[in-house]
Amino acid sequence: MSDTEIRLIAPRSQDWGAFECGDARISAKLVREAHRAQAGLQQLHGVMVAGDLAAVMTLRAGHLSAPVNVLMALGMGEIEVPTLHLEVLAVRTDAQRRGLGKLLISIALDIAVRLQGEIGLKTVSLEATTQSRAFYQNQGFEAAESPWPDGSWAMWFLLN
Ligand SMILES: CC(C)(COP(=O)(O)OP(=O)(O)OC[C@H]1O[C@@H](n2cnc3c(N)ncnc32)[C@H](O)[C@@H]1OP(=O)(O)O)[C@@H](O)C(=O)NCCC(=O)NCCS
Repeated sequence: MSDTEIRLIAPRSQDWGAFECGDARISAKLVREAHRAQAGLQQLHGVMVAGDLAAVMTLRAGHLSAPVNVLMALGMGEIEVPTLHLEVLAVRTDAQRRGLGKLLISIALDIAVRLQGEIGLKTVSLEATTQSRAFYQNQGFEAAESPWPDGSWAMWFLLN
């Protein structure tokens, strides 16, 4: 979209309760994660379309326990892997299926590749809902072999 702008946004300036992505659990998580971004614990990137917030994602670098298939692929003996974790990705209901989710994933991967050299990141990770799992697989993420008890799926993108 020609009037699309991606930027780090100030979490305080938004009414997060009003951001509707069609999944109540993700919306609730977004409110919580926006507070973490406000406290400086992670970054919050927004896609503005014609001046309005249409999609959002939060990113934080850290260490997470990875499943066996990921550790094997990375050739790692450590269980915890340095990762860029994408806590929330949400596209406003009326802006879905127009490439914005894909655009934010490509931004996250670009940031991860940059940080790979600086802080030794090895993966990008996230928890997908059953409904969004195929979307992330399309973007090159691998799913764990089984879901978490709450039905979400740990997903991993292996950096080269
Ligand atoms: C899942 C979500 C992030 C996808 O974002 P989006 O902007 O609608 O998706 P895009 O338009 O970028 O789609 C990119 C590609 O994935 C496909 N796709 C989109 N959503 C999909 C889904 N749920 N299942 C399978 N494929 C999907 C598109 O058809 C498109 O395919 P193409 O590249 O071959 O044309 C968005 O629908 C959303 O916010 N949903 C509600 C909240 C949620 O589920 N968040 C993720 C959980 S962490």
